[in-house]
Amino acid sequence: MSIRQASVTAPVNIATLKYWGKRDKNLNLPTNSSISVTLSQRDLRTLTTASASPTFAEDKLWLNNKPESLDTPRTQACLADLRALRLQLEESDPQLAPMSTWKLHIVSENNFPTAAGLASSAAGFAALIYAVAKLYELPQSHTELSKIARRGSGSACRSLFGGFVAWEMGSQTDGSDSQAVEVAPLEHWPSLRAAILVVSDAKKDTPSTSGMQLTVQTSDLFQRRIEDVVPRRFDEMKKAIVAKDFAKFAELTMKDSNQFHATCLDSYPPIFYLNDTSRRIIKLVEQVNADGVVAAYTFDAGPNAVIYYDEKDESKVLGEIYKYFSGVDGWNGKKFDDVAEEQIPGVSRVILTSIGGGPQVTSESLIDEAGLPKSAKSV
Ligand code: PMV
Repeated sequence: MSIRQASVTAPVNIATLKYWGKRDKNLNLPTNSSISVTLSQRDLRTLTTASASPTFAEDKLWLNNKPESLDTPRTQACLADLRALRLQLEESDPQLAPMSTWKLHIVSENNFPTAAGLASSAAGFAALIYAVAKLYELPQSHTELSKIARRGSGSACRSLFGGFVAWEMGSQTDGSDSQAVEVAPLEHWPSLRAAILVVSDAKKDTPSTSGMQLTVQTSDLFQRRIEDVVPRRFDEMKKAIVAKDFAKFAELTMKDSNQFHATCLDSYPPIFYLNDTSRRIIKLVEQVNADGVVAAYTFDAGPNAVIYYDEKDESKVLGEIYKYFSGVDGWNGKKFDDVAEEQIPGVSRVILTSIGGGPQVTSESLIDEAGLPKSAKSV
């Protein structure tokens, strides 16, 4: 039986200049450009094996050991784009296997617990697109592939690169210039670290798509943000990254997180992603920065905090966080002297990680010779 397969890993990215707002929901075209830092795949990554065979009866996906539907408009759009590119190759070289017509079996796993409450759609879609692109031996660049990932989940386009990444919003109506590009590689600033504080929350967050739509339709502050603030910040943040100016990078990151959440509050009815624990973490970072900015918080569409800092300031930044969260999981044996009498409640674990590289091909396969998930639980 002829089964072709390719396996890759792809990283999580956390925006420092937020994407919030779609000008085209179907193509996932944003109302503003954004910038992110790619996190290390040692701690957070999706591993995906994509396989194709003339014997497969239908497209199938297994996610974290469970069968999942591929039948969503976004995933279908991604697969259609990838198949169209493969067909172009096959038409130019009749020797190639007609994989564009074969069904796909895709198996995907995260190395971080789903219970951690971290959005995994960016790494998931980036891995899916990259795995199928490798399987199909597509010659397209990462920037070209980012446009396909964008259709799966907007923020996924930025996970096609490591280091510091910009998603240029573009101006074309067909999305042909709405793509991710590298601002600086991992090697430019490898000492950048990230501490993620996983904040527990009872209620389900407003999904990003409907949240964005509500903000675009109802927030006045949002107009000011996309017309004036973000275009300015986009240039300033790229400059701060190139100059490795942490204080400036941090100021822009924190202000942008605050403004994104302000536009959520300015939506009608308002959307709340931050909770009391998130706000206490903001105050804590302010305390750390009291005599010089060494840490930057940022929050996405949920209460979890990501705190960026440079390795040289680790004992200052982590030491202060440890004081209030020494009892939670994830310190990996790290210990600091001071522990506050009163701990801040509401954090379930810390994840200590760093800036990381882009997607990679791996020899670790999740699919057996029969084209089924290797893990017994998965079938
Ligand atoms: O691509 P989505 O739908 O997961 O939206 C991501 C939106 C934010 O995480 C809040 C910001 C961003 O730029 O990643």
